[in-house]
Amino acid sequence: MEKRTCREHFLRRWPRRPWVIAHRGASGLVPENTLTAFVLAAEQGADFVELDLRITRDGELVVCHDATLERTTDGHGFVHEHTLAELRRLDAGYTFTLDRGATYPFRGLGLRIPTFAEVVAALPSHVGIDAEVKSAPWDPADRQRGQAIAERLVAFARAHPTLRERLLVSSFDQAVLETIRQLDPELPVGLCTIPLAPLPEQLRSVVDHGFDAFHPMDVGFDEHGAAVVAAAHLEGILVNVWTVDVPERAVELTALGVDGIITDYPEATRQAIERAFGRSATVAFPAPR
Ligand code: G3P
Ligand code: CA
Repeated sequence: MEKRTCREHFLRRWPRRPWVIAHRGASGLVPENTLTAFVLAAEQGADFVELDLRITRDGELVVCHDATLERTTDGHGFVHEHTLAELRRLDAGYTFTLDRGATYPFRGLGLRIPTFAEVVAALPSHVGIDAEVKSAPWDPADRQRGQAIAERLVAFARAHPTLRERLLVSSFDQAVLETIRQLDPELPVGLCTIPLAPLPEQLRSVVDHGFDAFHPMDVGFDEHGAAVVAAAHLEGILVNVWTVDVPERAVELTALGVDGIITDYPEATRQAIERAFGRSATVAFPAPR
C-alpha cells in the first residue's frame, strides 16, 4: 500500500479522530496485554488496541511487554526461554495492583499471557490492532528474535486477510520495519521513537525510510508538535502519540491534529475528547488529505 493510500485507508475505516488506541489494552484498569485488557478496551470504545509481540522458545507469537516474566506474572526468566506450554501455566494477573500492593485482585483468576492469534480472535473486527514488534536495537540477540517475530507476523497476516485491513505493525527497531516492508510491502508500518533527537528529526527518519506512521513519545512532543503533524500529513504519514494518560493532554493533542492517542485509559480519554470537541466530531486539523 502506498503511504498516502495507507493513511487514506485508515481514515476511511476510522473517520472519527483522533483514534483512541488502548495501550496494552485498557491497561490502566486491568492487567496489561491480557485478553481481559483487550476485550475491556473494545467495550470502552477504543478504535485500536496496541500490543507487544514476543516469541517463545518454540517459535510462537505471544503478547507480553517485557523480555522477562517477573513484572507481570508469577514466572521467572526470559519469555523467549520458555515454550508456549510453559507460559500458559503462568498467572498474568499475579502482580497487578491498583492500591500499591495492598491487594492483587486479579490473582488466581486464570488470566494468561495470550498468543497473538488469541487476541486477534477475541477482538471485534471493527477494532484495529497496532502490533509492536519488540526488538531492542542495541541487542543483537534480541534483534534476531525481532526478525523472527516479523517473519511470523507476516505469515500470520497472509493467512488472515481480514486482519490485514486493520493491522498496523510498529517497532522501535527500523530493521524490523524494513523486513516487514520487504516481505509484505502492503502492510503498514510505523516507527516508535523516544526523544533522543529533536521531533522534526525523528519525523525525518520516518519520511526517509518511507514508513507509514510515526509514533513519538509524548514527553518529546514539544512546541514542534503542530508543525510536525502538518508535515507528516503532507507526506501521508500517520502520527500516533504514546503514552497519554492525562485527559487534558489528550485534548491538547487532539487540537494539534494527531491521528491517534495511545493511552492506558481508553474510556477516560474518549470522554475527555468528546467533552471538548463533541460526540460526533471527526476532528480534522488539518483536513484529511
Ligand atoms: O506504541 C508505543 C509504546 O507502546 C512504546 O512503549 O514501552 O509501552 O512498549 P512501550
Ligand atoms: Ca508497546
